[in-house]
Amino acid sequence: MASHNNREERPDGLDAVFRPRSIAVVGASTRPQSIGGNLLSNLFRSGFTGKIFPINPHASVLHSVKCYASVRDVPDEIDCAIVSVPKEHVLAVVAECARKGVRGLVVITAGFKEVGPEGAALELRLNDLVRKKGMRMIGPNCMGVINAEPEYSMDATFSPTPASYGPLAFASQSGALGVAILNVAQSLKLGFTQFVSMGNKANVSSNDMLLYWENDPRTRIIALYLESFGNPRRFVEITRRVTKKKPVLVVKSGRTVAGARAASSHTGALAASEVAIDAVLEACGVSRSDTIEELFDLASALASQPLPKGDRVAILTNAGGPAIMATDAVIQQGLRLAELSGQTKRRLAAFLPPEASLGNPVDMIASASDANYGRAAKILLADRGVDAVLVINVTPVLYGPRSVWDALMAATAAAKKPVLSVFMANEEFYDEARSMPAHPPIYRFPEPAARVLAEMWKIGRWQKKPRGTFPRYRVDAGKIAPILARRKRRGGGYLDPDDAFSVLAAAGIPVARPVFVRRESQLPSGARKVGYPLVLKATGEKIVHKSDVGGVATGIRDETELLAAVERMKGELARHGAAADLEGFILQREARGRELVVGATNDPRIGPLVMFGLGGRYVEVFKDVKFVLPPVTREEVLEALAKLKAGTLLSGVRGEPAGDREFLVEAILRVCRLVTDFPEIAEMDVNPLFVSSRGRGGLAVDVRIRVAAPENAGG
Ligand code: COA
Repeated sequence: MASHNNREERPDGLDAVFRPRSIAVVGASTRPQSIGGNLLSNLFRSGFTGKIFPINPHASVLHSVKCYASVRDVPDEIDCAIVSVPKEHVLAVVAECARKGVRGLVVITAGFKEVGPEGAALELRLNDLVRKKGMRMIGPNCMGVINAEPEYSMDATFSPTPASYGPLAFASQSGALGVAILNVAQSLKLGFTQFVSMGNKANVSSNDMLLYWENDPRTRIIALYLESFGNPRRFVEITRRVTKKKPVLVVKSGRTVAGARAASSHTGALAASEVAIDAVLEACGVSRSDTIEELFDLASALASQPLPKGDRVAILTNAGGPAIMATDAVIQQGLRLAELSGQTKRRLAAFLPPEASLGNPVDMIASASDANYGRAAKILLADRGVDAVLVINVTPVLYGPRSVWDALMAATAAAKKPVLSVFMANEEFYDEARSMPAHPPIYRFPEPAARVLAEMWKIGRWQKKPRGTFPRYRVDAGKIAPILARRKRRGGGYLDPDDAFSVLAAAGIPVARPVFVRRESQLPSGARKVGYPLVLKATGEKIVHKSDVGGVATGIRDETELLAAVERMKGELARHGAAADLEGFILQREARGRELVVGATNDPRIGPLVMFGLGGRYVEVFKDVKFVLPPVTREEVLEALAKLKAGTLLSGVRGEPAGDREFLVEAILRVCRLVTDFPEIAEMDVNPLFVSSRGRGGLAVDVRIRVAAPENAGG
């Protein structure tokens, strides 16, 4: 801590847990096989550099060290206490620790929030005490913490697998998985700065850990295993910043962020799906893996390889089949095959047999020697058109995989471009690799290696990419606020269509507001308000399917056409026996162009999420939508749009004119502004939003806006 190894103590108090000068193990057991016994022996095994005080009223010596009945009896200061006593005693032990001046706690004991309301109440009392006394606590219900930095060398977990020192920081919400994580890391020779099993996250959250590691120079990679987001909004804010400095890898188990809330809008329904979590994680630049294995595939590459500066991959192989697989995987991951220069090909031809293929993939054929691998890899790395090299080795007859590996390592160790290796070898080779000193990852198949390369390229791009410009659109709050307030006073719910159009118009989005006229004589003046071209619809309570009774006329360009259309419509209605049902007419500006949707949902925990994509009736069928988290920049919206099929449609397919992308982007950004300024908008759909051809704008033809119920009214 402060005076230890000249390190600045951090203001968040977490150094008391991760960088203590002295640790008490409360509940250090005399039984070596117990949790308390393991905690104590792990601290000794790891060679903790500070003082260790076992606490157990029934022992006087443990591990040849004096054992105390209580922390109060310890003559020295204690920075951190690892608490592993039965749950009934935890509060009393923590209170004693507070009196003793202990500032860091790791509570291993289970039986709190995870077991139900009674446990939750106990956890609240525990956390209150911790907070009141200004302590910081990991857990409860956790496996412990590790700080593998040589100055601390502290393993305060009961894990059977130790951790070595390295560039990875890991926070795991699951303790059991924590052991698996330590096992995988050990077999990959991947070391940690800190490892923490978060448990119930009562006092210290994964967000706190991200902040702890954000500026830690030794932590180069942050990895999280998450089951839930405690405070997703804060997670986004923090990771958006942290990912610009170092990669943040996340395994998020499947459940949705937004939860399965009942939602009546398209946007609400889609937000409760996986699509939205991906949007949240993508918006903050984290690399999401589906499994721990995938996470480690990436982490071990990041630990040993530089990030690629581009997406052009050279493949070096001694077998054709795997090279085809690799080519497919590279392309599928959105990377490109590098175009090798003439000089590269000449240099390769100088020593490879004439049967070798010098394009990309470079196939050195089965006779390729270990020296060939080293030489060819070097030549490929020197080519300016190559950003990364993917090496494939299928165990040849003459050269063992180990000698190929050694030659490759010697040739590429100092490379400034990433080299990923796929060895399709027998088990003995992988066993051998486990006993080698720390080394770059060895993949068994081309697909994971290609995925890792693509992810590394994404990370590199993200770190360099400026966020772009935040637009300065304003919405007319003076018009919007009273409309929303009125609805809210009436208990919330959907706005009347007319009010919904007013809100949208006041947000600066052009709307095709329907105008109702009761009498035929009012049609011309109504039409002047709407503007031509327009659509005329007959309306009446009994007219359910307007078009079935000839009650819809489109493409009306002027007053003459309007009057003719009314005459025709009256005739049609009479023919269908519906003349008496006519109660009036609706006039609406006719929109043309592509039908898109822009919607928003305000999740109580994430805040507003804005969705856009292919609109119309089939929004939820095609799911061609993207979510963004305001505030967003114009560039971020454009990038998301480019990933949609709807984005391609806007560019114009088969000679049709391109759509007005600028109009759409502005509409999206204006909806972002609207829902940020008015969080009482629980959800909204602008569907369809017609987007005309370039320069001609567009029109919102239908809009639904739901206002949240007042807080004390529930719902
Ligand atoms: N101060 C100091 N030591 C105390 C104590 C106190 N107030 N109360 C009890 N102890 C000692 C006991 O004497 C005992 O020592 P011994 O083994 O030498 O007799 C030791 O603490 C453990 O107490 P014990 O009653 O034997 O409990 P236990 O070892 O069966 O279980 C826990 C204790 C904390 C491990 C258990 O309650 C628990 O929570 N297990 C689950 C942990 C878990 O799964 N965490 C999440 C992992 S992801």
